[in-house]
Amino acid sequence: MSPQPDGIRGATIVGTGMYVPERVLTNADLERVVDTSDEWILERTGIRERRISAPEEASSDLAVIAARRALAMARVEADEVDQIVVATTTPDRYLPSCACTVQAKLGAKNAAAYDMFAACSGFIYGLGIARGAIGTGLAQTVLVIGVEQLSRIVDYTDRNTCVLFGDGAGAAVLRPCAPDQGILSVSIHSDGVLGDLLEIPAGGSLRPASIETVAERGHFIKMKGKELFKVAVRGMEESLRKALDRAGLAPTDLDLIVPHQANQRIIDATRERLGVPAERVIMNIDRYGNTSSASIPISLDELVRAGRLEPGTRVGFVAFGGGATWGATVSRWTMAAPLDGKPANAAVAALGGTR
Ligand code: ACO
Repeated sequence: MSPQPDGIRGATIVGTGMYVPERVLTNADLERVVDTSDEWILERTGIRERRISAPEEASSDLAVIAARRALAMARVEADEVDQIVVATTTPDRYLPSCACTVQAKLGAKNAAAYDMFAACSGFIYGLGIARGAIGTGLAQTVLVIGVEQLSRIVDYTDRNTCVLFGDGAGAAVLRPCAPDQGILSVSIHSDGVLGDLLEIPAGGSLRPASIETVAERGHFIKMKGKELFKVAVRGMEESLRKALDRAGLAPTDLDLIVPHQANQRIIDATRERLGVPAERVIMNIDRYGNTSSASIPISLDELVRAGRLEPGTRVGFVAFGGGATWGATVSRWTMAAPLDGKPANAAVAALGGTR
């Protein structure tokens, strides 16, 4: 890698991948587990079904499949990766990090690997880190993964939460590009005062696992949904507007918005506040539910493989999650649409984006 002065390079996505487990859990299935109905879930959230991991699958297994697909699209070998950022709330274990497990499974022996705990905003935070590392010359190739097995931390006796969440993984490979291409701006925020709106009360240093914490169901997600709803809409609008300001763009300049898939109504309310037409806002919550940090890279990979992103497309990512954390990015897409499912990265190569 040749040394680069700070901040002279941009960073852009040169490959994407996703994976969701095979098992589908429908609203009808949930009707048999808790006091709910397909009608209530669909009307209040937009969700029809979600994917659930097999007992033998760990988060790293989902992440590795998504990562291999992203690396193959980017035509990057695992040993070329300099950093692996895994955004997750559900690592395989607390030690070692999920990212180190992913590194070992991929054989990415030259990478520094670490987890990003920013809940549903984790992928956006990861893109910010990747852009900084590539922009300053610290890294040439960064793999950012969002992966969740929320089915492992959801209480299937709590109808307030169990209908919302699903499992899945999405990944993106980033490399350098010209400064006016790729990720143009990043806006990330946190407010720890809002921490108890979404929490897992036990299992950390505050309340280590014990017979009592298990009996209290303290290892499952507890959520204050109504309060979260309001701050999510405000936070998503605020962060996307800030990222747009930094890029010198208005909401209507965006060709596509890929929002975190938390709730159809949160996304609709945010879109209305931004004054953006519905056809520009990507939705797949009906098929996957809320997959937290995985939801944006899953949606992104579906868009890329459907050929909906061309060089020059202006795309915004925006998320809100537990912590509270929220954030957005605005990008000018550089990767050519897939030919026979294999995107050409000629545009990136021309910008000096390959090793
Ligand atoms: N089935 C049937 N009834 C239900 C269910 C269910 N699954 N869940 C709750 N209810 C009931 C409640 O008990 C309540 O009944 P009550 O009036 O007799 O007390 C009634 O439905 C209304 O409950 P509310 O909480 O007011 O329903 P609301 O319209 O706010 O929708 C929801 C709830 C879907 C959780 C919504 O608040 C939401 O999406 N909030 C955002 C939370 C979120 O997305 N969290 C994910 C992480 S953060 C993020 O990603 C943004």
